Amino acid sequence: MKAQWLLIVILISGIYTVNARNNGKIVPGYLRCEYKVDPLGIDVTSPRLSWELHSDQKNQYQSAYQVMVASSVEKLNNDEADLWDTGKVQSALTNQLPYSGRELLSRQECYWKVRVWNADDEVSAWSEAAYWSMGLIRYADWKGTWITHRAGVNNKDKYKELYLPPARYFRKSFSLDKKVKQAKAYFTSAGVFELRLNGEKVGKDHFTPGWTDYDKRIYYVTYDVTGQLVDGENVVGAIAADGWYAGYLGFALFIRSERVREFYGVDPAVFGQIEVEYEDGTKEIIATDQTWQSNQGPVREADILMGESYDARMEMPGWDRPGYDAKDWSKPRPSFPPDGKLEAYPTEPVRHIEEIRPVKITEPKAGVYIFDLGKNFAGVVRLKVEGESGQKITLRYGEMLHDDGTLMTENLRKARATDYYTLKGDGVEEWTPKFTYHGFQYVEVSGLSAKPDKGMITGIVMNSPTPQASTFRAANNMSNTLYKNILTTQFANFFEVPTDCPQRDERLGWTGDAQIYVRSAAYNADVASFFTKWLADLDDAQRTYGAYPNYAPFPYSRADQFSPGWMDAGIIVPHTLYKMYGDTRVIERMYAGMKKFMTFQLEASKDYIRPPGGMNYGDWLAVGQQVSDGFIAAAYFGYDARLMSEMAKAIGNEEDADYYAQLFEHIKKAFIKKYITEDGIIRDDDTETAYALALCFDLYPGHLAAKGAARLASMIRANGNVFSTGFLGTKHLMLALSANGYSDLAYDLFMQTKYPSWGYSIENGSTSIWERWNSYTREQGFGGGAGNNAKMNSFSHYAYGAVAEWMFRYGLGIDTEGVGFRDIIIRPQINSRMKAMQGSYRSINGKISSGWEIKDNKLHMEIGIPVNTKAKVYIPAFGKNNIRVNGRSLHKADDLTILSRDSDHTVLEVGSGTYVFTCE
Ligand code: BGC
Repeated sequence: MKAQWLLIVILISGIYTVNARNNGKIVPGYLRCEYKVDPLGIDVTSPRLSWELHSDQKNQYQSAYQVMVASSVEKLNNDEADLWDTGKVQSALTNQLPYSGRELLSRQECYWKVRVWNADDEVSAWSEAAYWSMGLIRYADWKGTWITHRAGVNNKDKYKELYLPPARYFRKSFSLDKKVKQAKAYFTSAGVFELRLNGEKVGKDHFTPGWTDYDKRIYYVTYDVTGQLVDGENVVGAIAADGWYAGYLGFALFIRSERVREFYGVDPAVFGQIEVEYEDGTKEIIATDQTWQSNQGPVREADILMGESYDARMEMPGWDRPGYDAKDWSKPRPSFPPDGKLEAYPTEPVRHIEEIRPVKITEPKAGVYIFDLGKNFAGVVRLKVEGESGQKITLRYGEMLHDDGTLMTENLRKARATDYYTLKGDGVEEWTPKFTYHGFQYVEVSGLSAKPDKGMITGIVMNSPTPQASTFRAANNMSNTLYKNILTTQFANFFEVPTDCPQRDERLGWTGDAQIYVRSAAYNADVASFFTKWLADLDDAQRTYGAYPNYAPFPYSRADQFSPGWMDAGIIVPHTLYKMYGDTRVIERMYAGMKKFMTFQLEASKDYIRPPGGMNYGDWLAVGQQVSDGFIAAAYFGYDARLMSEMAKAIGNEEDADYYAQLFEHIKKAFIKKYITEDGIIRDDDTETAYALALCFDLYPGHLAAKGAARLASMIRANGNVFSTGFLGTKHLMLALSANGYSDLAYDLFMQTKYPSWGYSIENGSTSIWERWNSYTREQGFGGGAGNNAKMNSFSHYAYGAVAEWMFRYGLGIDTEGVGFRDIIIRPQINSRMKAMQGSYRSINGKISSGWEIKDNKLHMEIGIPVNTKAKVYIPAFGKNNIRVNGRSLHKADDLTILSRDSDHTVLEVGSGTYVFTCE
């Protein structure tokens, strides 16, 4: 009873506070700058601002806004907007608003707030203050020099023995004798580094400054270190390791490439400065230079692919704290800086995201223990052990177990993926590697002196933080597992770049995988800044002759490293960011390169048919018929032209928009002539993928599309409603079916559990998305099905997870008319086998939800539309088509408009709010 009363009081006070705040008005919140909350040290001189709107009332719009930006929080609170005051601007804009106040210089601190007016011209309260600061924009701001520490020479036979040098340690003691007002650290490295200050790690980031083509750009990160400084002596330290800069990279060793490591440089180096501002207004800079000291330490090996080894006996207690005697340390060596331009890190660096406990320990061989962490993820483990000094613990990682319970590592190829810890023998010791990561579910631990318990290992999930943007639930449980597996695999691979897989000797930003998946990724999570960063990598990696390469960054410079369906990422990914977030800056930034790419394709074409070329990966990993390389090349060229025309228009380049629209028409005409018969059959390429691509890319003549779709559907049925398509065909097949009236068939595929299908892998225990339909089959296990190729068999490969796009656009029916979800489409494809689906997507304009259920001969739909947007809602014809809205007959509803009714749908237009529809 008591608890109930408490609940009622909480509820009433909740309602009261919402109303007191809200007053029936709209309230701005979730203020972001360049897609980030309160970012530090950015270098975009006209950063874009955004906010979300909330209201407890229906049909709410923003009629005007006012943004104030001030150089201090005090000024902002006093409405002294000394940097920018927009005044009241009549506009519905809530995102992509470019700052256009006073010029932003290095180190500028910017505090900002926004208020908005609703349709009745009532003003909201000011939002809470948000923040951003500028980094070091001018080269002259940097005062230090690059320093390194030599740690041996590589004279190993590169194919026979690994060369794994130790991490380098750097330190500098400095004294502060006045009261500090604030301090920031701006640092980078050639390699990967961890910054330390007075015995503690600075910030929460890992693998900074990330992976770029260091000869073109190298990022620095900014930290507020005010709270970490002390009076008197302070010590700043840095530990740097090879990382992507100098370590093993991709499959270079596997293919015995001439170079297997050190693709950008040899010795990891650090560079940066701490800037201290005293209360008396004076400033001091402590920058890396020859007055620092350098050394090796307990991190004996540190390589992303191979693993890390740590000898606790070599620890140097207190090395990064005041009072340490550093007499054995050396003077660092000066290092040539990488050629790239220093830029602020544009997205969120890799972090520790979640800790997971083992679910099971087994002992398949005496003294060899396997910890099962319950899911396949990317990251590391924290080891907690006790033992003798010099005792060496070995940690190996794998995604699967063999039948005898031992760890399967064949599919890691040349990635050693092994960590070593040597004990100092000093009670309980804890260790977490810093400079490596693995893709795994199982950890094999050996070298222990006693039977372990589950507390010995903690799994640490790591990735580049991309806030989850979606929810999904279906009446069919297998689909819920599929959704979970898709998220797990996306997060395991959004690790600095969108990698193909996190475990084997690859982990490259494969362009084909990225382009096929980017729209799914964007439904699942807020990937705007993550992909903005990767597009810089892709732009940097563009070949001089115009093609976008197979992966980016692109460290191996070889000829013809491009492929139709892969290189098109250079057009498709920017277009998707534009479509999902209304981002036009990414188009401007990529534009010159995209034009060059289009010219490259056009020049290779004959009569507008782009021939195959480069590597021609085809419909990669298809298990049935294979569409021809020529078809893929020709189809994607058409698609690119269409997207280019839209993007040119988006940035106001009408001339180019017309040019690419015409180019698309030419390509389409030539394509139809070459490939499509008068019966709508695809000539010489009568394959599922060919139909799927032609239909999705608008390459079918309008009057024949229905015939093409019918042919596609009949082929799928003839194949027993299972897949035969690969990376390129699979998602397009699902989209093409639903776009052409075959959603029921799409659902049959979606819910299929026979091989090959998503359901098959789930019924066989998958906790992630597998690289191949036949990564594992009941008959042939791990190797046989995959063409006797256990080595090329990843269990964490997001490409086939691209069905998420279908789940959101068609299953739930959440889509955008135009770009950026201002004009929303809610058009779920209901299905009597599936029975119910419910989910949401947090768009840049706020959260959109959609759910439907077929129950008691009624169709129920419940939708949520964010403030400042409107939606076209398609209610499928059902029963006698008697529709009620929020309990009232449709015709009595005065808060929506009926746009049209036909035998398929009733189409309504609604404003913000939640709506419950029933149809019987
Ligand atoms: C990667 C793929 C990639 C492919 C190119 C593989 O090794 O793992 O995901 O797209 O190569 O065909």
